Amino acid sequence: MTATSFTSMDTSTAEQWAVIGVETAKNQGRVADRVLDMLRSLGDITDGFATDQLTHCLQTATLAERAGADDEVVVASLCHDIGKAVSVPGHPEIAAAILRPYVRPEVHTMILVHQDFQGRHYYGHFGGDPDAREKHREHLSVDEWQMAEQFADEWDQKAFDPDYDTLPLEHFEAKVREVFATAKMFPTASAGDRYRS
Ligand SMILES: [Fe+2]
Repeated sequence: MTATSFTSMDTSTAEQWAVIGVETAKNQGRVADRVLDMLRSLGDITDGFATDQLTHCLQTATLAERAGADDEVVVASLCHDIGKAVSVPGHPEIAAAILRPYVRPEVHTMILVHQDFQGRHYYGHFGGDPDAREKHREHLSVDEWQMAEQFADEWDQKAFDPDYDTLPLEHFEAKVREVFATAKMFPTASAGDRYRS
């Protein structure tokens, strides 16, 4: 392991940052390891649903893959509720933040807004607005809107069936490693965070 010697950033040098850059790139694989560990931890969370949250995430990704979604969308579908490993309130923002450097902007938006799109199917049961997705309409392009709708209506909200032929985490591991292998250093703003932040 190579280490630099500066004790405060204002004394660091370009050469030292080159070392840190190389070391960080060398360890990029741990991102996928952490993501996979967080996904596994969702197996401990059921919170009254018919499936645990890992099964729900796997089933969402299985439905996306079987619908012909590309790798970024399948991995985002797998990770869409990964934020619940930390906190159910705010979980879409956590998942979207983890994914943001690794996926194109519309995939980030799809995950960031997913709870309000999902609300069509359950917000009404506790006094919320089933049309909460409408507040996003003016901010999303037609393509982004359709993507968010397909995700919520065809995959996410249907993925609580313990009897469905859900693919295991191992099936998705190579895709997870591929997507999280390369970060965009300065991700472009997505529709979702342009107006939410
Ligand atoms: Fe979900």
